[in-house]
Amino acid sequence: MRVFDASQAARDRVLDDVAGRLADLKGVGLIDDADAILSRVEVCDDMAAVIEGAKYVQESVPERVPLKQEVSRQISELLGPETVVGSSTSGIPASAFTEDLQNRDRFLVAHPVNPPYLVPVVEVAPAPWTDPASVETAMTVMRDVGQSPILVRREIEGFILNRLQGVLLREAWALLEEGYASADDIDKTVREGLGLRWSFIGPFETIDLNAPGGVREYAEVLGPLYHSIDASRSDPEPWSEALIAKAEAEMRAKIPAEGLEERRNWRDRRLMALAAHKKSQER
Ligand SMILES: NC(=O)c1ccc[n+]([C@@H]2O[C@H](COP(=O)([O-])OP(=O)(O)OC[C@H]3O[C@@H](n4cnc5c(N)ncnc54)[C@H](O)[C@@H]3O)[C@@H](O)[C@H]2O)c1
Repeated sequence: MRVFDASQAARDRVLDDVAGRLADLKGVGLIDDADAILSRVEVCDDMAAVIEGAKYVQESVPERVPLKQEVSRQISELLGPETVVGSSTSGIPASAFTEDLQNRDRFLVAHPVNPPYLVPVVEVAPAPWTDPASVETAMTVMRDVGQSPILVRREIEGFILNRLQGVLLREAWALLEEGYASADDIDKTVREGLGLRWSFIGPFETIDLNAPGGVREYAEVLGPLYHSIDASRSDPEPWSEALIAKAEAEMRAKIPAEGLEERRNWRDRRLMALAAHKKSQER
């Protein structure tokens, strides 16, 4: 795997960053030979060197449309005849930055989730003009490197993951604003409740298993409740400054700003242990 970043400082950090993460992965038994994996990572000093001969290119420049357009154009001019390009963008549809490219049929979105080496899902979202063969290449590459790709069949703002997260966040902010529960109790409802199931089954399978007659019976019995909840939230509002300050005060009382980096490291160690557990349960 070859890596390029426009910043020399970023290029200088790559191998140390990767080595540190590989050591952690080895520590929980997720990989055997960290040195062998590290030896396959090569940092290049220019974009052409990274793209030449590649089967697949992952673009991960900052989330700004003009920059995505410019970098996609540079990549397009260097692209071999069969290379496919996926963008990491969290929310910009591929059609917003690939329309004018000569080989736009080989560009799409391949949205990873942070931290991508521990959370396997990748949202593959083609533009209307992406060749189905390019979609298949991206899906196959992602599977081959141990990720779990899903296909977003048509372009939609926020793809699938952030739309699902957005619905949950909308209700979490509203419940906090209206004083129904503290931020920590809302978090606790997910980490000690919904989230436990969600690490191995999704919302459809959850309801399918939650009624003796499966999804149909669940929908018949509880559909009216959810319809009523949906109807009670019909006017979306931006997250207000006062509400953000309220959430921030609670979160910083729990974890001071200087403790966030350590907490991120803790999160990654917990995710590694969970990934190791899930791997041990694979059938
Ligand atoms: N951070 C996340 O949690 C996350 C998760 C999923 C997707 N993404 C997406 O990934 C992309 C990158 O996000 P990030 O958080 O890693 O950003 P970042 O700012 O941390 O890193 C972007 C890197 O791109 C480099 N860069 C800037 N211009 C460049 C150019 N012209 N050529 C080559 N390199 C260039 C920068 O030097 C920087 O190292 C965004 O589209 C973002 O939406 C981020």
